[in-house]
Amino acid sequence: MSKRVAVLISGRGTNMAVLADSMAEGDVATPVLVLSNEEEADGLRKAAIRNIPHTVVCHRDFPDRASFEAAMIAKLDAVRPDIICLAGFMRILTSEFIDRYEDRILNIHPSLLPRHKGLNTHARVLEAGDVEHGCTVHLVTNRLDDGPVLGQARITVEPDDTPKSLSSRVQRQEHRLYPAVLDRFARGGREPTYISMPSDSLLC
Ligand code: GAR
Repeated sequence: MSKRVAVLISGRGTNMAVLADSMAEGDVATPVLVLSNEEEADGLRKAAIRNIPHTVVCHRDFPDRASFEAAMIAKLDAVRPDIICLAGFMRILTSEFIDRYEDRILNIHPSLLPRHKGLNTHARVLEAGDVEHGCTVHLVTNRLDDGPVLGQARITVEPDDTPKSLSSRVQRQEHRLYPAVLDRFARGGREPTYISMPSDSLLC
């Protein structure tokens, strides 16, 4: 049976779009909701043109994190998601939220975790003099940018790279990695193991 997937976004939603497009090509997963915490998120427009139900729960409309998350939970539970994909969702989730959907929340992070948790990863890669960089899809646990790795894609850092050039190259890898990992996860591939892909820069 096709897995019901909710995608949480805050901005452009390019990862959400590639996830949705890859789900449409197969039959293992179906996007049932795109939820944004930002009303102006361009990802909402991308969801609309793909006829995916979409909604806004703006964190600024709530007095605290608990009530913000309660509103998100109400929207999510109404669509009974099997899997929740965080795709550029820029709010920290509480352990109550994460425990509710234990082992069902995936996140994409723009670094080779466990290196460079948190924000501004591309600039920090350059400051650190790293020779490689990339992105990680992992299961979400109660520790920020932690949890079993489900896949990583690597790029080589070039001498003339800037945060902007790294961001654009890493995003191209994200758009290959996240659909591949979601497809495998939806088929039951929950072991945090690595499978080779037909590319020297992609493991998932
Ligand atoms: C992606 O690069 C993703 O890795 C990053 O936000 C971007 C969202 O882009 N996520 C994080 O930094 C989470 N800590 P998108 O809206 O175009 O998919």
